[in-house]
Amino acid sequence: MSSRSCLTPPLGALQVPARSPQAARSNIWVSLVIPTYNESKNIAGLISQLTVLLDRRLPGEYELIVVDDNSPDRTWAVAQQAMADYPQLQVMRREGEKGLSTAVIRGWQAAQGEILGVIDGDLQHPPEVLLNLLTAMHQGADLAVASRHVVGGGVSEWSIVRRFLSRGAQVLGLLILPSVVGRVSDPMSGYFLLRRDVIADRRLNPLGYKILLEVLGRGNIGQIAEVGYVFQERQAGESKVSWRQYVDYLLHLGRLRSRGRISHLRHTYGVPIQRFIRFGLVGLSGVFIDMGMLYLLSDPAMLGWGLTRSKIIASETAILNNFLWNDRWTFGDIARQQKGWAKRVKRFLKFNLICLAGLILNVLLLNLLYNWVGLNRYLANLIAILAVTLWNFWLNLKLSWRVTDIQEPKIKR
Ligand code: GDD
Ligand code: MN
Repeated sequence: MSSRSCLTPPLGALQVPARSPQAARSNIWVSLVIPTYNESKNIAGLISQLTVLLDRRLPGEYELIVVDDNSPDRTWAVAQQAMADYPQLQVMRREGEKGLSTAVIRGWQAAQGEILGVIDGDLQHPPEVLLNLLTAMHQGADLAVASRHVVGGGVSEWSIVRRFLSRGAQVLGLLILPSVVGRVSDPMSGYFLLRRDVIADRRLNPLGYKILLEVLGRGNIGQIAEVGYVFQERQAGESKVSWRQYVDYLLHLGRLRSRGRISHLRHTYGVPIQRFIRFGLVGLSGVFIDMGMLYLLSDPAMLGWGLTRSKIIASETAILNNFLWNDRWTFGDIARQQKGWAKRVKRFLKFNLICLAGLILNVLLLNLLYNWVGLNRYLANLIAILAVTLWNFWLNLKLSWRVTDIQEPKIKR
């Protein structure tokens, strides 16, 4: 057992203090928290890999802080044992409190660094990506997030169902709390670095698993960088995720929403105005196509087909038109970074899927306004189209072209 003592879990409010003068005099610049629960088979390997990387990049200027919730498999003991061999390693064993998000904050509270971070303890987050995150922080980011959904990112062997669930949670998040969830491409990430100032002296109150939501929702964040990474398969131990985490996620969003009014306003002004105008103009061109087609197909003087069937064909033609223009113009800068037909088709399929969901809404609204309210069919159509435009813009911005307010770090690996 090491002669160095373990960190005592801080008590009281979940609030990270500003850097103490004493800590500022230390050499520690980066403090990386590793939350663990039953990771005894993974923790030693992770510590050794991180140490190799960081000894090269930041010799003596970092600390690794394992925060273990008194794991039955004695992860804490394994980590404590390792302290003798790894001078930059600290261990905190919590016996009272439990839970991933609070573990991370307790670790940050005891940390000395100006840069705070977190990485999973199960090797599902590739350690070498940390170097890119550090580079982004060096270049002035306030927050650098490892993301599965930017260039270089992905998941290794996830089933369609799992991907769908993960994306579903994200879409739900975008609907409940767009100003927070929409700021990054991977709001579920548990692998990121931030400047201590971002959260210093702010009262945190997380729930469940997603600590990044708390940072995004309550922190004072200017520049965000995202770095791609591939989520690895677990080699040892078990995931702690259950249905409970989905419930916590929604409750957490609700909690952040009810207090997020100010930051909501601030971020609303960060709405991509120019893109929205372009999207709107493209949408307008689609309206003419939609209207024209609806006239050709459904008007009694023309083909005289049924209203619903005509509307579906009219809209699908408009969707194709809109995609081509949006991919060229509205999101042209993004599209040019994602070259190739395969990616283009993928963007089109997503665009189509989102618009199709919008179309169902559109058809329902049209029928409602025409048959029940008794509006003229063209006016009814116009109102339905306007309502669905907003839905289309937001979801396509975030999912098809994946625009986040990041500054892409220029990283050569
Ligand atoms: N201290 C502590 N207390 N650590 C915990 C607890 C807890 O109650 N629950 C989980 N952990 C630790 C695990 O030991 C692991 O190191 C890490 O937190 C992630 O837990 P997993 O159970 O492996 O989660 P995952 O594989 O589904 O990962 C997903 O969630 C992570 C956390 O938000 C992904 O979205 C990751 O990207 C994300 O980092
Ligand atoms: Mn995991």
